[in-house]
Amino acid sequence: MKTNFKRKTDCGLITKKLLKKTISLAGWVNKRRDFGNLIFIDLRDRSGIMQLVFNPDINKDAHRKAHELRLQYVIGVTGMVVERSPDTINPDLPTGNVELQVHELIIFNAAKTLPFQLDQIDEVDEELRLKYRYLELRTPHVQERFALRSKLNLVIREFFIKQGFYEIETPCMTKSTPEGARDYIVPSRIKHGSFYALAQSPQLYKELLMAAGFEKYFQIARCFRDEDLRADRQPEFTQLDIEMSFIDEHDIQKLIEELFAHVWKQILNKDLVLPFARLTYEEAFALYGSDKPDIRFDLKITDCTALFADTKITFLRSILDKEGKLGAIHLRGHELSRKELSTLEEESKILGAKGLLWIRFKQEQPESVIAKFLPEDFFSKAQKIFPTIADGSILLLIAGAYTETWQLLGKLRLRLAQKFDLIPHDRYSFVWIIDFPLFEWDQETKRWTAVHHPFTQPKTGWENQEPGQMKARSYDLALNGFELGGGSIRIHNAQIQKKVFELLGIPQKEVQEKFGFLLEAQELGFPPLGGIAFGLDRIAMIMTGTKSLRDVIAFPKTNRAVDLVMDAPSPISEKQLKEYGLFLKDKKK
Ligand code: AMO
Repeated sequence: MKTNFKRKTDCGLITKKLLKKTISLAGWVNKRRDFGNLIFIDLRDRSGIMQLVFNPDINKDAHRKAHELRLQYVIGVTGMVVERSPDTINPDLPTGNVELQVHELIIFNAAKTLPFQLDQIDEVDEELRLKYRYLELRTPHVQERFALRSKLNLVIREFFIKQGFYEIETPCMTKSTPEGARDYIVPSRIKHGSFYALAQSPQLYKELLMAAGFEKYFQIARCFRDEDLRADRQPEFTQLDIEMSFIDEHDIQKLIEELFAHVWKQILNKDLVLPFARLTYEEAFALYGSDKPDIRFDLKITDCTALFADTKITFLRSILDKEGKLGAIHLRGHELSRKELSTLEEESKILGAKGLLWIRFKQEQPESVIAKFLPEDFFSKAQKIFPTIADGSILLLIAGAYTETWQLLGKLRLRLAQKFDLIPHDRYSFVWIIDFPLFEWDQETKRWTAVHHPFTQPKTGWENQEPGQMKARSYDLALNGFELGGGSIRIHNAQIQKKVFELLGIPQKEVQEKFGFLLEAQELGFPPLGGIAFGLDRIAMIMTGTKSLRDVIAFPKTNRAVDLVMDAPSPISEKQLKEYGLFLKDKKK
């Protein structure tokens, strides 16, 4: 193989400006058409595609070798840029009016037939795509997402550095932090029986960086959580992590709004409207059945318990007598046949509802399985709760305990929006969710648990409240139905921190073992502080308009947390087990 070949330019950059110039290109065979006499190859590199022509009259040797070329061969070529004849111009390609008349061809590497065709990638089973992820990553539309992600990192870094932040790395191998998920653990070879936990987030380190006096910190940090996976969760993911001293929630929220406005402008050339919308946790849940509402479309939930306060309908009566609630979504302007309504009923059951009631209005008369139990003036009574109710309006109702019922209505709302195509896909609706409860009751362990994390400062007045009433100085940012990030003002006082641990029912001994260093730091000059962290993969997913984090992570894991490229996790040798002092109880598992 010739070794003095040097690529001089990129395929996608060639224009008529280079006509008659001799250039060298390198890349992959993307397409071939062999007409015997003339051979045409589409050469692909990261920048785009350039058509090559092999003509025996230009160079016999190159033409002869070109017969061997197959899809995905990796080659280098030298030739002259010439104009295409008018009938062969390809208006779909930026380089479509030129071609390269090749006089030298180097085959760097042949390629076997790929396990799937790259131009039909969308029809390939995901497991196979993930096994050969590097092939999937070869496709230009997939590469574009990574170009965006790379720019995203750059723009974020520029923003924070300009604002006087330091980017500081913190350890991945650490001690368990209570972010609420299971840890990935790493055994110590030196101290048998001891384990590191892979960081679920840099939370405590960033607080210590504030204790160190750095004042403004950010990091693009790897985090690890062993939790049930879904489209917007990966076991290994990336956070944009931020912490500041001497600030309050308004300072942080303002900074973050400026960050997103800058990022959206620089990358998508979109102007965001500031400030972002704000909803309290209670409002968000009451209106949307979610703490990460998609507010791009309306279809809010309405509490219509009062409308049925005197009902004699047996199943409703028994729910309402047990302090249950009746919530409804008012659907207007969408005709639904009985069959479509019963399909919706079935779908609600799949979402987890025991049932879905519907009431449709025709000339102010309700039509429903419960119609005969409704009062004569039901329409005018309903109008007081649903002011826009009209002929053709449909109320979709679910009854039950408030939290579960509203969660179901929230899911139903999303289902309806998809079904009736109500989501404006080019809109970015950011919303801050504030005033979260500090604690929630865990039925399983019969204990209070922190809604954000145990280092979150309670809102003023907490000293005189029951744990269930206490509010947190925390905030989440939701975008288009996804939780983009969450943060809080932290506790900086050891006494308050101890009290919160106590309310969480963590025994003092455990507090000392796990968080003794934090309590000590809080007594050695600890500034008031707060911060936030964003799922960077989620930001990239939304910005690229993709549906899963896997689309924006180069080597993602499957739903069973498997890396199919490397086949990880995998067993380790007896020797390694011994070195780490590990013993497998059941070798087959
Ligand atoms: P939290 O646990 O809310 O807060 O995480 C912050 C953000 O990280 C993203 N995220 C994930 N992304 C992908 N896969 C996952 N498994 C995953 N888990 C979380 C989400 C989430 O909003 N230390 C605190 C932040 C703080 O208080 O400053 C924390 O980690 O987008």
